[in-house]
Amino acid sequence: METRATTIRLGREVRFALTADPAIDAADGAVNNYAGFPRPAGVAPYYRVTAELAGMTDPRTSCVANIKLIDDVVRAELLRAIRSCLAAGQGQPGQWLVAGWAALADRLAIAGRARLDALIFDWTPFHRLTYRGEHDMGSVVYLTEQFEFSAAHRLWSATLSDAENQGQFGKCANPAGHGHNYVVEVTVKSPPAAVTIPALERIVKAAVIDRLDHRNLNVDCEEFRSLNPTVENICSVIFGILSDASALGGDLVSVRLYETPKTYAECRQAGT
Ligand code: NI
Repeated sequence: METRATTIRLGREVRFALTADPAIDAADGAVNNYAGFPRPAGVAPYYRVTAELAGMTDPRTSCVANIKLIDDVVRAELLRAIRSCLAAGQGQPGQWLVAGWAALADRLAIAGRARLDALIFDWTPFHRLTYRGEHDMGSVVYLTEQFEFSAAHRLWSATLSDAENQGQFGKCANPAGHGHNYVVEVTVKSPPAAVTIPALERIVKAAVIDRLDHRNLNVDCEEFRSLNPTVENICSVIFGILSDASALGGDLVSVRLYETPKTYAECRQAGT
């Protein structure tokens, strides 16, 4: 079968512990790439970084790039950049991504076919930084943080008949309602050296979580008295609240709301 000539994105996650001594473990080499390398020794932050390449596949290999090359380049260049930043007193992961980008991008420019398109840094399991290099003139990184709340709702539209409501919403239309543990991912953008987590957390907690957590949305929340609390509408309401908020610690980019691990809605600022 012929494949279509279109841009393909290839992502590769590299896992590593930021050991205090770069020489530590080097003699043993990488054995378990799944768990990562360098492996932890003593107290060492553990990170995951995804390099996302965009381009065309090599007609001979059908690959955008050799994933071993990505592993090697990220381990060599990004770790070197992080250590240089730390030595220069630059402790912000946003700065690390900017510092590492040039060396990574040069070495991951694959024969004019593919190039580095994004670096995604899993700072913790719940905080993620994304840097897109020249896409944003190199001037911003994106911080995504997860929050959670639990709430009850009943899905029902006054514009539909009883039968249509049952057909659309099924058991979600049960009169007494039901609940979800929602996970919200809020993304803001800011200069690489100015990523601020506390400001974002304070606003999201006060404006969103405290308002929705452990509520019956249809009954307790003004917004949903006349608005069906579908995952789309809840996401849209949260996006509206945060769009109007000031002091988020960055400019709001998007809100993604997971109703279950399988179902989410997302709202994005135009042009992002
Ligand atoms: Ni539901």
